[in-house]
Amino acid sequence: MMNLHVALFSSILAIGSNAHPLGEPGRDKRHVIANLRRNSFAVRRQSTTVKLQNGTQPVFDAPLVHMEVQGLLGKYSMASDFLNGISLNPDTQPDTGYGPFNDTPILQYFANASKPSSLLTQPQPLSARDGGGGAAAGAEPILGLPDEPYASFELMPLTDDVAGGMDVSYYGPLKFGTPAQALTVSVDTGSADLWVPVACPGCSNAQFDAAASSTFRSTGRRASVTYGAGRVAGTVASDTVALGALSVDAQRFVAVRTESQDFMDYPSSGLLGLAFRSISRMDAPTFFEGLLAGRKLAAGIFSTHLTRGAEDGSQICFGCYDLTKTTGPVEWLNLTSKTYWTVAMDGLAAGKNRTEPLSIIAAVDTGSSLILVSDDVARQFYGLIPGAQDASATYGGGFYTYPCASPVTSSLVFSGRPYMIHQDDMNLGKLSDDSDDCVGGIIGISSDYGLPANLAIIGDVFLKSWYVTFDYAGSRLGLAPSINNR
Ligand SMILES: *[C@@H]1O[C@H](CO)[C@@H](O)[C@H](O)[C@H]1NC(C)=O
Ligand SMILES: *[C@@H]1O[C@H](CO)[C@@H](O)[C@H](O)[C@H]1NC(C)=O
Ligand SMILES: *[C@@H]1O[C@H](CO)[C@@H](O)[C@H](O)[C@H]1NC(C)=O
Ligand SMILES: *[C@@H]1O[C@H](CO)[C@@H](O)[C@H](O)[C@H]1NC(C)=O
Repeated sequence: MMNLHVALFSSILAIGSNAHPLGEPGRDKRHVIANLRRNSFAVRRQSTTVKLQNGTQPVFDAPLVHMEVQGLLGKYSMASDFLNGISLNPDTQPDTGYGPFNDTPILQYFANASKPSSLLTQPQPLSARDGGGGAAAGAEPILGLPDEPYASFELMPLTDDVAGGMDVSYYGPLKFGTPAQALTVSVDTGSADLWVPVACPGCSNAQFDAAASSTFRSTGRRASVTYGAGRVAGTVASDTVALGALSVDAQRFVAVRTESQDFMDYPSSGLLGLAFRSISRMDAPTFFEGLLAGRKLAAGIFSTHLTRGAEDGSQICFGCYDLTKTTGPVEWLNLTSKTYWTVAMDGLAAGKNRTEPLSIIAAVDTGSSLILVSDDVARQFYGLIPGAQDASATYGGGFYTYPCASPVTSSLVFSGRPYMIHQDDMNLGKLSDDSDDCVGGIIGISSDYGLPANLAIIGDVFLKSWYVTFDYAGSRLGLAPSINNR
């Protein structure tokens, strides 16, 4: 599902001529995709039910995963341009006045925690300390530490759209207009535009009633966007957008007037892009950049906790770091660009075995459920797993299986250190009910699609194992082990 949302601000991709995940070459593409989608909804409902009933491992949901890949190809169709043309420091600096996030209390906490004699208070759960909004000058925006003063931050609770044995997308509440109207948006660190439906006759999800808002302005500038299998169109507008007590005046967004049929089954109304303005299709600051520019946050960061197979419990901490979602100290990776959230990835590992050293640009993308790498990298990686097999004959190029019972731990290598992927996330499901082979969540993409060969899209398959801090002002990404892995 998410793929449709995340692919919104992208153009139709070129169709490769070889075996690929979209169907047989020569068939009408729209038709193929429409079929995938219909099948997917059926499978989706079924799989969810099975999972909820008794927790058996679902069978690989090929249509759903194909849709996701399709959406990502569209979403990243401009990645070459973005990554080649845009520098680390865009002209606009909404983070002026913010420094890198001060992680000293986190590092101290875990240093102390490792000492047996230390009498540390356990971090307090957030329910006891709900959201911020009120500024406390100089306060550390770290939640959960004993006696932590309130700071300027806001917690966005996310709902995990669980389907087909996957965590397909995460969405949360956002308020639009004056008086405020509550809508839900998917959260996407892989794009940089905000959109919601406005006066959209065909749209079935909740919409923003612009006429009822005294602060709504339309620029009249049309914005039409083509994505994987469809198109949305609307106008660039602005209004007050708020998360809890934090708000941005005149936040720009696309007021979507027409959506294609594909959007009808979406659990959320719109999409919140959390990447950098440098890749915004409207060339407008993101909501997060608006919060920074308005000095609304105690720290120039947001942090994500994404649950595994549970609708409730996921969250984004805007301007804060929630220690209660981690089991260890944070480690930092410098950004290589401020376009997508990109970091340098040195390779992949299976157990103790690694691919040859690689120079990969890894885009960290909460709006993707999968991990995508080039065909070549995927081949190398699965070559490290005993019993892994190329499944392109069944599912199209880029898909691999491995023995479900294999204890090999897959990792991504950053700064020379492996960061593991939980087995449950790596495993997209059994080939069939009675199969011992499972499909891997790392998928190879043919160069036919025009994505940069050194690009990797790092989605939720990885991000569920780590509490991720997006340090905008510090130009870096923090990874701390997630409580999901306990
Ligand atoms: C789960 O449910 C399926 C279908 O009802 C059943 O065949 C299977 O035995 C169940 N598995 C467990 C572990 O209960
Ligand atoms: C950890 O220990 C340091 C130095 O001993 C102390 O200053 C700090 O307050 C402690 N931190 C926590 C979270 O207890
Ligand atoms: C990351 O960036 C910081 C600040 O620019 C720099 O001091 C540090 O050496 C960098 N780390 C690596 C591993 O490049
Ligand atoms: C992993 O490395 C070990 C040690 O070099 C080697 O014995 C083993 O065959 C390797 N496994 C694979 C799948 O390459």
